[in-house]
Amino acid sequence: MNGVGRVRGGRLPDATATEALGARLAKVLQPGDLVLLEGPLGAGKTTLVRGLVAALGGDPLEVCSPTFVLLESYAVSGGAIVRVHHADLYRLRGRSSAPLDEVGLGDALDDPAAVTAVEWPESWSWLGGLARRVCRVRLDYEGDTRDASVEWSMPPL
Ligand SMILES: Nc1ncnc2c1ncn2[C@@H]1O[C@H](COP(=O)(O)OP(=O)(O)O)[C@@H](O)[C@H]1O
Ligand SMILES: [Mg+2]
Repeated sequence: MNGVGRVRGGRLPDATATEALGARLAKVLQPGDLVLLEGPLGAGKTTLVRGLVAALGGDPLEVCSPTFVLLESYAVSGGAIVRVHHADLYRLRGRSSAPLDEVGLGDALDDPAAVTAVEWPESWSWLGGLARRVCRVRLDYEGDTRDASVEWSMPPL
């Protein structure tokens, strides 16, 4: 990790705010970027991806929590970004073995015209080493209060 940048996240009073954070993120994403979405069940990870996909010109209705599918891909029209790959590793959490091939994450990260968002990356700390630019979003909630923190790691310019 050569460079780290923090972006404001802050309070997320409603689902629209979570989508708006995804839209803000979309503005700074580049092809090849990896977005790791940490946080408990119901924290808003899928909601953030929905906002991100919508802001990139994709169909937000396509974005759902992929319970049975581990990876979905959405067509978008975000300039150089034409696809968003969206993995949900909930069902694999706690496993020590690499989820890459099982999920299709290797191919997703090799896609030069896509960004990849991963829910439930916590079990595999090395996932953060798989892309040049990695954005780690942490979503938390306690009662009705939801918060986000966003941290980028990327090589120096
Ligand atoms: N900031 C927020 N405040 C209140 N509800 C939210 C917020 N963000 C998302 N939600 C709602 O929480 C529920 C779970 O969101 P979801 O994105 O599926 O969570 P996750 O993918 O982390 O399990 C959805 O009904 C969503 O609309
Ligand atoms: Mg989800």
